[in-house]
Amino acid sequence: MFQKEQQLVEEKIKTYCAANDIQLAELKWKPIPFSGEWGFATSFFQTAANEAKRGRSENMSAPQKAQEIAEQVKGQISGEAGIRHVEAVKGYLNIYFKTSEYALRVVDEVLKNGANFGRGKLKSETVMVEYAQPNTHHSFHIGHARNAALGEVLARLTEFAGYRTIRASYPGDLGLGVITVLWMYDKFYKGQEPAGVHERGQWLLKLYVEANQLLEKKENETPAETAQREAYEAERREMYRKWDAGDPQVRELWHVTRRWSLDELREILQMLDIDIDVWFFESDVDAPSKAIVDELIAKGIADDERPQGGAVIVKIDEKLGLTKEKYRTNVILRADGTSLYLTKDLALAKEKFEKYHVDRSIYVVDTRQSLHLQQAFAILKLWGFAQAEKCHHLGYGFVSLPEGAMSSRKGRVTLFKEVYDEAVKRVLSLNVEKSVELSSAEREKIARQIGMGALIYSMLSVDNNKDIVFHIDEALSFDGRTGPYIQNAHVRANSILKKANFKPSTSALQPETFNYDLAKQEIELIEQLSQFPQKAQQAAEEYRPLVMATYAYDLANAFHSFYHAVPVLQTEDEKIKNARLLLVAATKQVLVNALHLLDIQAPDAM
Ligand code: ARG
Repeated sequence: MFQKEQQLVEEKIKTYCAANDIQLAELKWKPIPFSGEWGFATSFFQTAANEAKRGRSENMSAPQKAQEIAEQVKGQISGEAGIRHVEAVKGYLNIYFKTSEYALRVVDEVLKNGANFGRGKLKSETVMVEYAQPNTHHSFHIGHARNAALGEVLARLTEFAGYRTIRASYPGDLGLGVITVLWMYDKFYKGQEPAGVHERGQWLLKLYVEANQLLEKKENETPAETAQREAYEAERREMYRKWDAGDPQVRELWHVTRRWSLDELREILQMLDIDIDVWFFESDVDAPSKAIVDELIAKGIADDERPQGGAVIVKIDEKLGLTKEKYRTNVILRADGTSLYLTKDLALAKEKFEKYHVDRSIYVVDTRQSLHLQQAFAILKLWGFAQAEKCHHLGYGFVSLPEGAMSSRKGRVTLFKEVYDEAVKRVLSLNVEKSVELSSAEREKIARQIGMGALIYSMLSVDNNKDIVFHIDEALSFDGRTGPYIQNAHVRANSILKKANFKPSTSALQPETFNYDLAKQEIELIEQLSQFPQKAQQAAEEYRPLVMATYAYDLANAFHSFYHAVPVLQTEDEKIKNARLLLVAATKQVLVNALHLLDIQAPDAM
């Protein structure tokens, strides 16, 4: 926000240092939080160290030398527009602004840029975020919702930070779990198809659970039961064999049921406002994964032990020259010629790099797959892909309900859709008392926005590596770290502006606009607004949605405090009232921007 001033000051410092043969280190500017005034600062410790190396510190300690330089450059700066005073303290140069000028600048920047306030400059790198990739023939549960929320928010963040961003999904659509559903369907439910996209998708999970019950060895089985179970087992194996061999009927059944799953997934993604650009499937990379094995052998990365009756393996640690075990040795092609999950990930990564020109590749995947992904990244490095350094695993922990952990096999899963429906129902029952003047269609829509906001925020507000125990009442609370609390700040800002019939325009901003005794809550609010661009950038660079989630809460919190303590519509002084309305309008805008990055809607009323 103060780049111009920073540049001006930097120029002066550079000119001075060049003229006096001081080897200036790169200047890093940091904002100074408000303590009577706002400012920004830079230190001269690195420069002092440079000087010491050149034998030019005249027996001064590093802090002393830094302070001396700070004092010297301070003498060069005076009279710049907006700068109130300059200090040289403990090796730092502190530059302070007139508070009214700073406030004006922040509000002006926000209103001028609107939805683009905080957007980063276009960058040359392409980021691919892979997320929302549950296995097919299952249902979308609350853990998948955490994955989807983290991935979508990360994609929004990198996009906003200026990266070309590609959203990708990689559902697992093969393996024993899938075959188990096919077998069950074929044997007991052939020709059936429940109505409703969601019901049909969920039904596959029911078949899976039922099949596992039939196939599970029980205690005290009678000989007849054992024989029955073994017969089922043999049928399932046969189904797998046929699938592998490309049997047209089995393939057709697989395609149809896979589509049921994907239809349901797409419907849920739509509810989550997620639009995937590229769909990869495990089955699609199966053949390419076998094809890369020869190349890895030829390059000396993989060892072919098939002649000795073994498999094709990669001794990752050895090839990387590591003496301690880290990535271990991995099979990439079994003796029977089948490839593995790891091999498929290698082929997939190659496609991401070569076909989609991905420079930074992010994987939003359960933390339990961490070693697997680190192994894949290590092999990509051995393979010579420079992008391997910029592969990043965004892991995340379990989501459970207070009732306990989930298990797909046993059918003990908490479906995302059920939790969402319940959340909406609860919001509706609250809303009835709150805003009676809303039509029922409006109320419905808002309830969906709040229910979804509550769910998504509860997935984002916990550090991704930690497990979540999801409490629906807490998530829906209008107090505390919740989606509705932040949405409510937006509703309040909106209703103030509406009551005043206020249309913000930057022409209403005058140099004198904020030239009054700002309340503590106004200062805090301005401070929060000013931090948005930096927080958005940081969240993207560090791949941490939590940074934005926390920021949105802090901003909402600052606004709620302002709302309770500082009169806006009741302010007698018209000039101050105007200033506060502008501040409210700016806050509303930044709340919208932050909520949008968090994939949460900003309702106008509640
Ligand atoms: N479908 C996998 C699962 O549900 C997640 C895919 C992870 N991505 C990857 N490139 N391996 O566990």
